[in-house]
Amino acid sequence: ISLGVVHSHVLSSSSPSSESLKKTIIDKCEAFIQNNKSSSANNCQKIWSAFQQAFVGRDPCNVPMEAYDPLIHTVIQDPVCNRMLFWSKTKKIVHDFTEKRDCFLTLEDTLVGFIMNGLTWCGKEDSNETFTTGCPGWTDCVNNTVRSFWNRASAAFADAACGDVTAMLNGSIATPFSPTSIFATIEVKRFKAAKVKSLSVVLVTKENKGTTCDDPSLQDLQKEIEPKLKYNCKAVPESKIQDCISHPDTACGACW
Ligand code: APR
Repeated sequence: ISLGVVHSHVLSSSSPSSESLKKTIIDKCEAFIQNNKSSSANNCQKIWSAFQQAFVGRDPCNVPMEAYDPLIHTVIQDPVCNRMLFWSKTKKIVHDFTEKRDCFLTLEDTLVGFIMNGLTWCGKEDSNETFTTGCPGWTDCVNNTVRSFWNRASAAFADAACGDVTAMLNGSIATPFSPTSIFATIEVKRFKAAKVKSLSVVLVTKENKGTTCDDPSLQDLQKEIEPKLKYNCKAVPESKIQDCISHPDTACGACW
């Protein structure tokens, strides 16, 4: 029996690791569609196939963000004007918040962001295998498989932005609008005044400590956006957001 198992595995065109990545992705895709009926026009097999063609057979340090264009074009995603929530250096609190309520949506609450969140993947030059370990890290090379995906998915999310847009930034660090972040390098640059009415920054602070809305990096942000786009910033204590997370029935408008 064990010989039979080994044999069929040798004969299969993909490695066990690529089979498990495929299964992980299709399972997450189907689970998302199950819980979000508005995305039921998506086909998870097609999504897998568009996804894998971006990086299989390629040097994992040489996958440009454009490699994910077919994936992004395969995914059907309705824009959600006035509810889009961007973030930088606030990953945990922002997702604790959106998990509990429907008034805001981050990239990780959309189909493609949900599927890839937390995963690592890469291919290898001249090989049809996929790997989930031993892949280059975020800063090991610029065009790595995972980072290019997040750059491309973030670009698409920002391109779809419309109405009043919100960004949750971290007021406990020296530079809440970090010039090397995805938010600064990709997303903000794509907000178009023709579609986006305003940008509201929620600066999450630790009880009257840390940076304020007058911070130079936030002034840079304000200068960066198109002049027609309204800008505002509000420092909100972390405890107030935590209260909203613990009381999901609080109206979203009352959270900041
Ligand atoms: N090493 C490892 N992972 C990193 C690194 C790094 N040096 N830098 C960023 N990341 C990954 C992590 O998973 C991290 O949680 O990117 C995530 C976001 O990084 P941040 O610096 O916190 O924020 P930013 O680069 O602005 O990206 C967040 O982009 O994903 C979109 O729409 C989303 O608005 C959001 C923004």
